[in-house]
Amino acid sequence: MSARRVVLIGYGAIAADIAAALLAARDPGYALAVLLRPGSASAKRVPEGVPILNDSDAVAAFAPDLVIEAAGHGAVRESVPGCLALGLPVLISSIGALHDEALYADLVATARRGGGRLLLASGALGGLDYVRAVRHASQLDLRYESRKPPAAWSSELRALGHDPAALSRPVTLFSGTAREAAARYPQNLNVAAALALAGPGFEATGVDVVCDPAATGNTHVVRASSEFGTMSLEIANRPSPSNPKSSWIVAQAILAAVDQHFSPVVMM
Ligand SMILES: NC(=O)c1ccc[n+]([C@@H]2O[C@H](COP(=O)([O-])OP(=O)(O)OC[C@H]3O[C@@H](n4cnc5c(N)ncnc54)[C@H](O)[C@@H]3O)[C@@H](O)[C@H]2O)c1
Repeated sequence: MSARRVVLIGYGAIAADIAAALLAARDPGYALAVLLRPGSASAKRVPEGVPILNDSDAVAAFAPDLVIEAAGHGAVRESVPGCLALGLPVLISSIGALHDEALYADLVATARRGGGRLLLASGALGGLDYVRAVRHASQLDLRYESRKPPAAWSSELRALGHDPAALSRPVTLFSGTAREAAARYPQNLNVAAALALAGPGFEATGVDVVCDPAATGNTHVVRASSEFGTMSLEIANRPSPSNPKSSWIVAQAILAAVDQHFSPVVMM
């Protein structure tokens, strides 16, 4: 069997972890390329022998079996449409970008026209299989809470008149729908967007953003209740050693999705 061909969009903390694992894999192994903006400073970190591509013509010439976006919301706008138009499956991590209804509709239409598929990574969150199963429940109540230490929200706390270093009790920074949350905190709430898209949508998914001086890491709490029963899930993620803004588990979640993509046995 020949090596599976994968293009990574971006080469930051998450993509580097993914690349290290894919380049070490054997039987059949992976042939990688990295799509970056021309002149990107990340180019110098790309391992020797891995081609760097700058546009969708170069992606087409590389002929990947799978494209993985681990770059940010800008890349979902700039690079993902071109890959979908080539008829490629594109696994995205920056799911918060999809709170923009027009962009989401465009990506879906492009995928349909070109034969591509937009694959959404579970990323830092778990339990999306359960949320998908109850998404049509008539009595569904779905809420997500993000709980992080004050350092993660310094500027937002200052804007509300709090001194982040002197916070003595938890402060709720935001309480509303997943659509408002993803628009207000685009870089922080990929997880809320993933939950909304797995579940009943952006308007019907509740979000609380809590800043807690007692929190040591990034905690995600999901509660679902419906006529089918209840689910309560808490995940405490460690930050990536190379980018404290991203959770370390995200690369592992994407690698698990890559494995499923190529596997003859798929857990749905
Ligand atoms: N779904 C989740 O749970 C989850 C969790 C954490 C991060 N993320 C997403 O993953 C993204 C990457 O995280 P990271 O920690 O690796 O970030 P990082 O800052 O370490 O790396 C980002 C990389 O993307 C490149 N890049 C930025 N814009 C680009 C573009 N338009 N085209 C091509 N490359 C571009 C940068 O040059 C850099 O190489 C985040 O921006 C976030 O949206 C998702």
